[in-house]
Amino acid sequence: MKNNGIDGKLLPFVANQLGDDMTGHGLQHALRVFGNARTLQAREGGNLRIITAAALLHDCADRKLFDDTDRQRALIAGFLRSIDFSEEETDTVDGIIRTISFNQGENLPLSTIEAKIVRDADRLDAIGAVGIIRTIEYGTARHRPFYNPENPGDTGTTLNHFYEKLLRLKDLMHTPTARAMAEERHRFLERFLKQFYDETGADRP
Ligand code: NI
Repeated sequence: MKNNGIDGKLLPFVANQLGDDMTGHGLQHALRVFGNARTLQAREGGNLRIITAAALLHDCADRKLFDDTDRQRALIAGFLRSIDFSEEETDTVDGIIRTISFNQGENLPLSTIEAKIVRDADRLDAIGAVGIIRTIEYGTARHRPFYNPENPGDTGTTLNHFYEKLLRLKDLMHTPTARAMAEERHRFLERFLKQFYDETGADRP
């Protein structure tokens, strides 16, 4: 991988792993997370080579997408070695990927700036306009209704996911730059929800 570029083998590998995902975790998500991570790195610092690899690969061993996450991690490690990542770099990227999923403990301490940046970059893609689209895509793929007028408190709806996760993300950012970027996206979530309630008269879960 020359000059931290994504033009070499990394992008085709990620495309091959995530290409057909229709649950909001596909290649376009990986590319947006990479873009966010680069923006954060420019302000916050950190090793761009590690951040690039971890940002693009972060969902390639996610349990939401893959049954055998250990096998995926081994596949990723083998791939990184094949593009001349050292053992230490490979371990570092693996460590970031492992801790990145929200479900694996939102308050897991992240010790490195690289890990904080990739997690913040991923969380930024879960809020704002893109966050709304991805949440609805994910819910639809799981055959979840957006809301349940008969039982507004239904926790199995996509609407409930806004309260369970999306609206909390702004306060879970690790870096000051991500916290600032999250503000506008968070306000957009609130505007969307207000409009939804205004139009439907629905009760919030
Ligand atoms: Ni992700």
